[in-house]
Amino acid sequence: MTQTPSEAITFPTGRPGPFDPPERLASLREEGPLVRLAYPDGRMGWLVTGHAAVRAILADPRFSSRRELLNIPVPFPLMQERPGPAEPGLFIRMDPPDHTRYRRPLTAQFTVRRMKALEPRIAEITREHLDAMEKAGPPLDLVRAFALPIPSLVICELLGVPYADRDEFQQATSTLLNLESSIEEIRGAIGGIAAFFARLIALKRADPADDLLSGLIEGGELTDEELGNVGLLLLVAGHETTANMLGLGTFALLEHPDQLAALRADPSLIDNAVEELLRYLSIIHIGPTRAALEDVEVEGELIRAGEVVTLSVPAANRDPSRFPDPEHLDVTRPASGHLTFGHGLHQCLGQQLARVEMRIAFPMLFDRFPGLRLAVPAEEVAMRDTMSIYGVRELPVRW
Ligand code: HEM
Repeated sequence: MTQTPSEAITFPTGRPGPFDPPERLASLREEGPLVRLAYPDGRMGWLVTGHAAVRAILADPRFSSRRELLNIPVPFPLMQERPGPAEPGLFIRMDPPDHTRYRRPLTAQFTVRRMKALEPRIAEITREHLDAMEKAGPPLDLVRAFALPIPSLVICELLGVPYADRDEFQQATSTLLNLESSIEEIRGAIGGIAAFFARLIALKRADPADDLLSGLIEGGELTDEELGNVGLLLLVAGHETTANMLGLGTFALLEHPDQLAALRADPSLIDNAVEELLRYLSIIHIGPTRAALEDVEVEGELIRAGEVVTLSVPAANRDPSRFPDPEHLDVTRPASGHLTFGHGLHQCLGQQLARVEMRIAFPMLFDRFPGLRLAVPAEEVAMRDTMSIYGVRELPVRW
């Protein structure tokens, strides 16, 4: 039943524990798959909590990803979109045909062959970080020592950042990813990364190699400005997400020793375990968002043209009509069908890479440190509640 504005809710926050979404999301889902949502500026939209409804909207071209239509204030300042259309190359906030023009050449570069070729390098990068952890000795912060640098170096491999430039690249990206950075510092870091990409693109034009950036340049479809923004998008989309899965995923396994033991007893469960961690943890905890281009009826509710819908991945991934006993982490369940990588046209371009990184990094970590445990009580682990991507700020561990 459609709710009147006075019945509209604001976005539910306040988690009961580190791995569970706000309880209110579940009670709203019981009321119906869509509810009226009041955005902080008073504009009315929708919050979608049912798995089938979230999936249907993500697959429906009548819902737009264009940034100029999505510019709604959200309760989390760091997530607020910049006004106006997306810059050339930032296709995550575009619709076809613009989206298609960028996504197609990139899809052609994200080949199975290239992802396979990265596997030994990902294992090597992981081994180097485990060696460094062993050398430093416990206790240490697993986010800094393991979860953040591994995806960062994997992006370097993918893009073809030369070894000599990796420190500079990581320096620039660490400001971007540092939670303590101010908006001004983040803007400055984006400028620095743009300059870095400009130099890298010039280098690849002069001296192409077998990497993604060289492949895109060779395709000849994108300008330098577009290539730079594509590089930035891959960096931001592929770095923090995977890093938070590694950090929060380790925390979740340490806090569910029966599940960790099951995984240790049967390493072939890793593919399942990765999907289940993606489902259970739902690190994309606020969006995605879409704007209706015309009046659309979804599950009996009329969404008016121009209204913004916030699709709750955590609520959808714990919808009991899709996943039995959804509140439990169960590494043996077939968790495919979760919406953590989205769905439809914008479904995550890097999902296979993210899976490969997790399938390699989790077992190597737990093999190297069989006694891995938290170095502080679980309640003291600081969570990223107010960030667009959920996870741990730090994960102090010992072994
Ligand atoms: C666990 C890790 C990851 C998660 C949970 C994740 C999640 C997502 C989600 C939900 C979307 C869809 C957004 C929308 O519909 O508006 C998306 C898009 C995207 N992701 Fe990922 N991602 C991950 C890792 C990666 C990696 C490793 C890369 C690249 C190296 C990457 C690159 C992208 C790009 C380029 C898009 C935009 C696709 C488009 O608009 O067509 N992601 N991701």
